[in-house]
Amino acid sequence: MAADNPFRFGSLALDDAFTDRVDELDELVSDVLNGQDVVLFAPRRYGKTSLMWRAAQLLLRKRVLVAQVDLMTTPTKEKLAEKLAQAIHDDIASPLFRAKERLRVFQGLRVTPVVTVDPDDGSLGFTFDAGHRRQDIDATLERLLELPAQLAGDRGRKVALVLDEFQEVVHIDRQLPKLMRAVFQTQPEVAHVYLGSQRHMLARIFSDENEPFWRSAKRMELGPIASAAFAPFIDARFAESGRAAAPEVVAAILELTHGQPYATQELCYFLWQETPARSRATPERLDAALARLLRSEHSHFSLIWQRATGPQRQVLQALAAEPGPVYGEGYRRRHGLPSASGVQRAVGALEGQELVARGPAGHDICEPFLAAWVRREQT
Ligand SMILES: Nc1ncnc2c1ncn2[C@@H]1O[C@H](COP(=O)(O)OP(=O)(O)O)[C@@H](O)[C@H]1O
Ligand SMILES: [Mg+2]
Repeated sequence: MAADNPFRFGSLALDDAFTDRVDELDELVSDVLNGQDVVLFAPRRYGKTSLMWRAAQLLLRKRVLVAQVDLMTTPTKEKLAEKLAQAIHDDIASPLFRAKERLRVFQGLRVTPVVTVDPDDGSLGFTFDAGHRRQDIDATLERLLELPAQLAGDRGRKVALVLDEFQEVVHIDRQLPKLMRAVFQTQPEVAHVYLGSQRHMLARIFSDENEPFWRSAKRMELGPIASAAFAPFIDARFAESGRAAAPEVVAAILELTHGQPYATQELCYFLWQETPARSRATPERLDAALARLLRSEHSHFSLIWQRATGPQRQVLQALAAEPGPVYGEGYRRRHGLPSASGVQRAVGALEGQELVARGPAGHDICEPFLAAWVRREQT
């Protein structure tokens, strides 16, 4: 039987697609069990949601109730109310109450949700129409935010409320952090877990005004996956699917991706496609895989390039050729860069988009494969 490509990128890394993160998983599970609030931050696609998902599976086995809402899917307060109601119904009320009693938890909401039944599987959905008065929708949200603590508390169960892509909170409504904070402060026993990118969390939410909010939460940073864990994972996936990966090829992959989870799975996916059954992944096949990957990401990178200003493009070209101290005079001269202040502006903007980051040895392009693309297409 022909094996399927064992690498996955884009969706959640579940089961066999998930590797490592042993310590982080341990820590997160313990924190939630302690009712400790946590901010889990990392750049995009580092595996925050996948890690939380895994932690939720372990927590469920320990009888903890875990309600999750992704704020990327809730552009308005009404939508947020809908997703909260959904999570409360599915993840909290359903394990606690019999079907007939579940909807009662929403009794007394200032705005009553419209409940719909999916004819295919009988599952319930919730909608809150737009056009209610601000006070009414706020009161409804407040009540919904209180419910997890109350329902779980009544039954002596632990509960976690996970807010993914939390940096979006300020886009939904400027006053929303304040409203949430007021409710969450009264729930020391609930573990609130906020997922998001540090840069955006810090820039948009961690303002003076919201500082008390964050002081109460433990910060947990998710880094790349170490080679010592990622290399055996890649080996095993190739071996299980009737192929092999030469050690120097695996090392080359991780050097290209810096162990970034999404990028590594993506490159491995393309490499696997280049490697026939019962064959080895070789450096030549890796080159071909990278070329294909860059073609498939071409429109994404082109868009980044089009949006970049002249100085930003110069900085990207310089960093693609040589990561290092961009502000240094020698570096600027070598790469024909503008004045230090001009470079600073360009780098600041690129950092803001999480395309470039500063490491111990100076600046580097952190958007996976962008450096390779710039070297191929823009030099
Ligand atoms: N622990 C992991 N092991 C292997 N691959 C992972 C892991 N975590 C994430 N990935 C890869 O990264 C991709 C993005 O993960 P995701 O959890 O959506 O990241 P985030 O929420 O930080 O944006 C996944 O589709 C998968 O390819
Ligand atoms: Mg995510």
